[in-house]
Amino acid sequence: MIIDSHCHLDKLDTSHYEDGFPGLIAAAQADGISQMLSISVDTENFEPMMRQIETYDFIHASAGLHPLGVKSLDNFSVLEQQAQHPKVVAIGETGLDYFYQKDNIDIQQQAFLAHLKLSKHLKKPVIIHTRDANEDTLALLRSEADQSVGGVIHCFTEDWAMAEACLNLGFHISISGIVTFNNASALREVVKKIPMDRLLVETDSPYLTPVPYRGQQNEPKHVRLVAQYVADLKGVSLAELAEQTSKNFSQLFLKTFS
Ligand code: NI
Repeated sequence: MIIDSHCHLDKLDTSHYEDGFPGLIAAAQADGISQMLSISVDTENFEPMMRQIETYDFIHASAGLHPLGVKSLDNFSVLEQQAQHPKVVAIGETGLDYFYQKDNIDIQQQAFLAHLKLSKHLKKPVIIHTRDANEDTLALLRSEADQSVGGVIHCFTEDWAMAEACLNLGFHISISGIVTFNNASALREVVKKIPMDRLLVETDSPYLTPVPYRGQQNEPKHVRLVAQYVADLKGVSLAELAEQTSKNFSQLFLKTFS
């Protein structure tokens, strides 16, 4: 049993499955994927996403405004309502991305701050996207994050200094299919150093398809490839990696130890 800790289920094309979305979920289950966390990126996609996943008790959800494309906080009260849904186990994805977008840095920072406060208030962990914004991300985490609630730096691609700083703040680190890419040797060295009890794996599907399926749509079932790759880097079996990351997920998001 492997858990996909970050996927965008409402963004997947399911037309190649005879019965569409249920077929995609069944394919993931057949590959040993036991749970998924479907990530919301704006207030508009939340309701349709929830309708899609509502009958699956092993699929969890988040509520958040992605830093790329965030234009205002006018709708934040809507997000606050959405975040209280019992299926919502996390706040985000939120964070800072100065690599892809610099023209909305002010609003990215305000939104990130608002998510951190909401996370603290609802005691739901925060899911963070950070790219080329380490200093500002860490400053906001240090001043506003609730370390007892914690969260995850998802799709981690930064250096060891950033990983270490986030670990010291009590955060988990999630590794995506990027770790399998040819040019990801620096990331692979970072992964080797991340403690097993703070590690998660994810697909970020439909994006970031791991090798050898580059060029195709990513799907939750491919988290198995990510987990296998990370297990090899850590020198442990896939079963051990799967068990530990599933335990980490349960402790962080579900507050259980099973
Ligand atoms: Ni994502």
